[in-house]
This record gives sequence, C-alpha cells and structure tokens, in this order.
Amino acid sequence: MTMVMLLVKLGQLIRRRMAFEKALAAFPVAPERHWLLGHLPKLTGNLKEKRWGMEAITVPYPKYCVLWAGPFLPIVLVYHHEAAKAILSTSEPKEDYIFDMIRPWLGDGLLLSYGKKWARNRRLLTPGFHFDVLRPYAKIFQGSANDLVSKWRRMYHDGEPLSREMFTDVSLLTLDSLLKCIFSVESNCQEEAETNQKHPYIRGVVELSQLIMARFRFLPHHIDLLYHLSYNGYKWRQANNLVHSYTRSVIQKRKDAIQHPEAIKDERKYVDFLDILLSAKDEDGSGLTDQEIQDEVDTFMFEGHDTTSSGLSWFLFNMAIRPEIQVKCQKEVDDYFRSKGKDQLDWDDLNNLPYLTMCLKESMRMNPPVPNIARRLTRDLTFPDGNVVPAGAFITTIIMGVHHSPLTWKEAELFIPERFSSENLKNMPPYSYVPFSAGPRNCIGQNFAMNEMKITLATLLHNFDFTLNPAVKVDIDDSVIQRAANGIHLFIKPRTLQD
Ligand code: HEM
Repeated sequence: MTMVMLLVKLGQLIRRRMAFEKALAAFPVAPERHWLLGHLPKLTGNLKEKRWGMEAITVPYPKYCVLWAGPFLPIVLVYHHEAAKAILSTSEPKEDYIFDMIRPWLGDGLLLSYGKKWARNRRLLTPGFHFDVLRPYAKIFQGSANDLVSKWRRMYHDGEPLSREMFTDVSLLTLDSLLKCIFSVESNCQEEAETNQKHPYIRGVVELSQLIMARFRFLPHHIDLLYHLSYNGYKWRQANNLVHSYTRSVIQKRKDAIQHPEAIKDERKYVDFLDILLSAKDEDGSGLTDQEIQDEVDTFMFEGHDTTSSGLSWFLFNMAIRPEIQVKCQKEVDDYFRSKGKDQLDWDDLNNLPYLTMCLKESMRMNPPVPNIARRLTRDLTFPDGNVVPAGAFITTIIMGVHHSPLTWKEAELFIPERFSSENLKNMPPYSYVPFSAGPRNCIGQNFAMNEMKITLATLLHNFDFTLNPAVKVDIDDSVIQRAANGIHLFIKPRTLQD
C-alpha cells in the first residue's frame, strides 16, 4: 500500500516537473544543472568552492534565470529592478524552506503571515512605528551606543592595538536597544557579555539564529523528521522553549501591571512596543490574542536585531577600507557636535548628517543586510518583457544582484555615496535600491533601523578610528542575513579631542 502511495506521489511530482519545464521554457536556466539534484550542490553555504559567484549567472542572463532546488522545485531568481518590481509590488506569500524552518520560533507574526491575517496585523502595528513613538527611542539608541564606547575604551590599552569582531559587539548593542524598545527591559547585555553572564533570553535568541543557519546549510536537516531526531533539533526545541517562556512571562507581567497599576511602579518615559501590541484594537474593539502578541514580539526580536547589526558592521568595514571617506564622515559629525556644543544626538539632529546618511545608504547598496527575499506564487506573474512565471513557482529577489546590476548602476563595484544625493535620487529607477524591500511587504521597521544606525555610527565615528585587521580575510557569506564568513575584524583606536 505504502509502495503504491509512493509511486503515485512520484508520478505527481514528475508531472509537476514536466509542467514547470514547459511553462518556464522561455526562461534561461542557470549553468551546471545536475539531472537529479538540480542546482542544490551550488547552494550549500560551507561548500564554498562549489558555489558559483553571481557573475556566473548575471553575465550570461542579465535580468533573471531559473535555478532548480532539487528535481522538482524551480526558483526564478531576479536581479534587475524591473523584474523585482513585478514581484515585490504583489502581496504574494512568504513560504519556503527557510521561512518554514523559522516558523516554530516566530509563529504567524508579521514576517511570515499572509492574506487577511497579515493585512489586519500590519494595520494594527503600523501606529507602533509612527514618529511620535519612535522619537523617544533616540535616547535609547544613544545610551546603547555610549555603552559600547565605554566598553571599547575600557578594553583599549595605550600602544596595544585593539582588534574586535564587529558582528559580535554590535549585535549585543542592537539587542540591548531592542530589548528596551520592545519590552522596556534593561538587559545590560553589552556588559554581561564581558563577564560571560548572558541574559537567558539573549542566549536563546543568539542560539536560535545560529541553529537556523546551521540547519539551512546542512541539507539532510531540511527534512523535518531528520532534524527533529537530531541533537540540533533537540537544542532548537530547548531554545524555543526558553525564548517563548521568557516572552510569555514579560507579556503576563505587563498585563498584570495594566490591571493593577497601583501595585507596580512604572517610571518609563516612553511607550514601548509591547504597550502598542496590548492596546491595538480592531474596529469591533477586539485586540490581539496572547499568542499573536507573542508571535509579533518574537518576530520583531528576530527581524530587528541581526539585520541592523549587519548594516552597522558592513558600514564600519566600508569605512575601515576607505580612510578618506571615514575622515569625511568624522569631520561632518565633529563639526556638527561642535556647532551644537554637544556630543550626543537626538531625534531632531537626525536630518543634519547628510554625508553620513549617504554613506550608510551606499553601504547598504554594496552590502544589503537582507541579501534575498523569497515568495511563492499563488497565481501566474507576467514580467515586463511578457514572460510568465507560473503559479506554484518560487521567485527570489536577489537584492545583492539588484544593487550591483551593471544595467542599473554605473561603476557598480565602486563606493560612491553621492549616488544618494537628493539630485541623483530623482533619477534612480524605482525598485533599483531595495535594502528594506519595497511595495506592500516592505520593512515596517525601516525608520527605526535608520535612526538607530545613524545615532550609533555617528557616536562610534566620533570616538574611534577604524582600520582593517588584515589577519582575517573578509569574505561575504550570503545567507538569511549578510555576514562575513570569518567575521569582520577591525582595529579600533580611540580618538582624542585634538584629532
Ligand atoms: C538595517 C535593518 C533592516 C533591514 C535591512 C531590514 C530589511 C527588511 C526586508 C528586506 C524585509 C522584507 C522581507 C521579506 O519580504 O521577506 C523586512 C521586513 C520586515 N522587517 Fe525589516 N529590516 C531591518 C530592520 C528592522 C527592524 C529594526 C524591525 C523592527 C523593529 C524590522 C521589522 C520587520 C518586519 C516585522 C518585517 C515584515 C513586514 C511585513 O511583511 O509586513 N526590520 N525587513
């Protein structure tokens, strides 16, 4: 009986493959397709020597091509702004391997939900990113940046070069500020990391992020059952329990505080994200359930932490290898502080650092923190040239490819901040610059992230000079978030007032 069912299933899959082959006949296929595995051997992250570089695809096929993930699943890769616009302006769902792997952690939060549920939650959560809510967060970002400055200054001993791995330090900073903005939790995690006493929630979030990547890279663990039975699968469940029980308890405490305000002293001077979630109401007065609140909190912790630390780390790398641009940014920040007689930034200062902002945008063009975005089509999609991608296929927008397309960008591999001057922005084709995606499913946290990055970077550049530590080669490792395979190791030297 089981044998018959397997044969029926195989027959269905073969018919599906033939239908896809026919429907996608007009699309170029990426090189070196294996008859059974398709292009999977090219996708496994650690087998670097087996991967082709982007140019192996983008030179022969400059806008899009098809890649086969195994024998039955075609993925259309797009890396030109016109094709990116066709897919990103739809609300097609985010369902695929990697998103389904993350689902046990994030549940049906804003990132993974779709259809009516997504539309309702997006409407309920949008007020949480209104500038009135974001404004007081500037102080939080500044406080977290100051903590990193003090930590690095403590670590620096005159004459001894201080080399630090950027992702490690900077992601503690973003986690610290996110915990304050989401839960009003003072984690002290930047300091605790020095003494190896990590907050249990942070331990859980860091572990889950690492386990996701390990799973993505190890093909047999893409099969749920095998992963479930593995040691990593066991650690994944443990870490999920830890993180979920922490979020559950914070939510419960806050609910108690709302019901018995007299019993709990609340000295906060700002509304945090949890307040927004607890007070969000539909037209009929109903709000989010406890499970929905937990899913959103977990989603924001995931989306808001590693992405921003990637943006910050690559920016510092881009400055370290371009000292003349670093000096120009430092001069802008120093002059601004001098003119205002202060050395801290607030919300109202954020539009007054145009060169730093252009450099940040150019850095996110060169190294987009989220390198790819996947969608599964529920209906046929027509590209501007008339080619149709059939329903059921996956489309992945390679943001890295869109940002480096020679069809769009002159001298795409050069770091030219002036591309983002207000004059040049007028001529930028829509969807050619999409670090935060675009269209209905764009990043809800983009203003939050830009403000945090500007305040952090201005503070760090005002206090330190950054140069590359050549002992560790920086190799891009594109996975869910853009990282460097062996980290970004930079020398940090405190600046003095006379500098
Ligand atoms: C440099 C920092 C960031 C970058 C580059 C970034 C980038 C992105 C991108 C590309 C997407 C689309 C993902 C997709 O379609 O699969 C996205 C969605 C999202 N981002 Fe961000 N993000 C950043 C920071 C943040 C922050 C700080 C938060 C929250 C505090 C956040 C919350 C979200 C959420 C909830 C979504 C899903 C939105 C929806 O589908 O309606 N992000 N982000």
